[in-house]
Amino acid sequence: MNMQLTKSQIGLDGVPAAETVLSHVDGERGELIIAGDHVAELAAQSSFEGVTARLWNAASGRALTEANVRASLGAARERAFARLADLLPATPGLSIVDGFRAAIAALRAENGLEPEAVIVGAFPVIAGALVQRAAGGNAIAPDPTASHAADTLSMLLARKPAPRQVAALNAYFVTVCDHGMNASTFTTRVVASTQADLFAAIAAGYCALTGPLHGGAPEPVLEMLDAIGTRERIAPWVDAALARGERLMGFGHRIYKVRDPRADVLKTAIERLATNGTDLPFASEVETYIREALRREKPDRRLDTNVEFFTAILLDALGIPRQAFTPIFAVARAAGWTAHAREQQRTGRLIRPSSLYLGPKPAHVPD
Ligand code: ACO
Repeated sequence: MNMQLTKSQIGLDGVPAAETVLSHVDGERGELIIAGDHVAELAAQSSFEGVTARLWNAASGRALTEANVRASLGAARERAFARLADLLPATPGLSIVDGFRAAIAALRAENGLEPEAVIVGAFPVIAGALVQRAAGGNAIAPDPTASHAADTLSMLLARKPAPRQVAALNAYFVTVCDHGMNASTFTTRVVASTQADLFAAIAAGYCALTGPLHGGAPEPVLEMLDAIGTRERIAPWVDAALARGERLMGFGHRIYKVRDPRADVLKTAIERLATNGTDLPFASEVETYIREALRREKPDRRLDTNVEFFTAILLDALGIPRQAFTPIFAVARAAGWTAHAREQQRTGRLIRPSSLYLGPKPAHVPD
């Protein structure tokens, strides 16, 4: 019998692969719950440290407070800065995305710090050092007393950020810190299920994040907006790209069949940022046209805006170089990855699916 898997089966569409208390995505209602609250409420009210405490507590039954996490991330940023000489040797000549991969592979356990904090604390220090080096400068020392969002911006921009910039990056961090069984989280959980340590699991998660079908999309979103350029060119540019069969970055999602709720949260954060450095009305016009064009061209597909469209605009408005967008996504998502890795390890169950063999079989050898 020549059985084959369907496209949905190959992509594991809709297959629950874990039980989790960390986050829930309802693709029909356009709803995202993180650690028990809707993403919009969390982004408006919580610090990244507060949400991280909730995720880590939920994953491993601890009772960390926001202040505990703020202190441990501050200490971990300092430790990572002191260890930069050990973390960066494999990175010269690599892009920021690839350099980040090489540097995080060199992270290891540190005395007196939980692995979760070592990882989440080190990520913005490494991203900052790579961004500064690409600009010809030296890494900026962290301030362990600052919030994670404020210190991340200082290290990236080499200046003290304005409070409204810190609020915008914090809203972004909270919005994208966890998101159900996305590809990078699943990867992280597979590695953690082998009882490999958190450093191995998170390095694998980051590798999965870098592809354009996942966390690598925001840089191409900006390239698309640059290529469109003017209002008059929106329709012809989008129509031609769709006619060529191209995917428009920042649109479509495996789970969301309506607009990704994170898109609205980030759009609000951009409006609050009120910067002259971005053309939100133009981007919104592009978004409106693309949504209409996708409905027209792919009426049975239910494609809508995903988080990456407004991620690109927000991070650009903050002055973060587009080459660093994926590592900055990882700074936030590391909170979720570490929690998922712990939750998975606690199950003690190896993730090991099967495959359908379609290759040749050995010729029958008679006895
Ligand atoms: N633009 C144009 N067409 C699209 C898009 C898009 N952005 N997304 C999906 N489609 C089309 C596909 O070409 C396909 O059409 P076909 O059946 O006629 O060939 C159909 O919609 C369904 O596509 P699938 O690949 O089955 O959808 P899937 O669930 O795998 O897609 C994905 C999800 C990968 C995110 C896809 O929508 C995509 O490539 N989007 C662009 C990249 C992007 O924005 N990535 C960030 C995702 S958010 C995140 O991970 C943080």
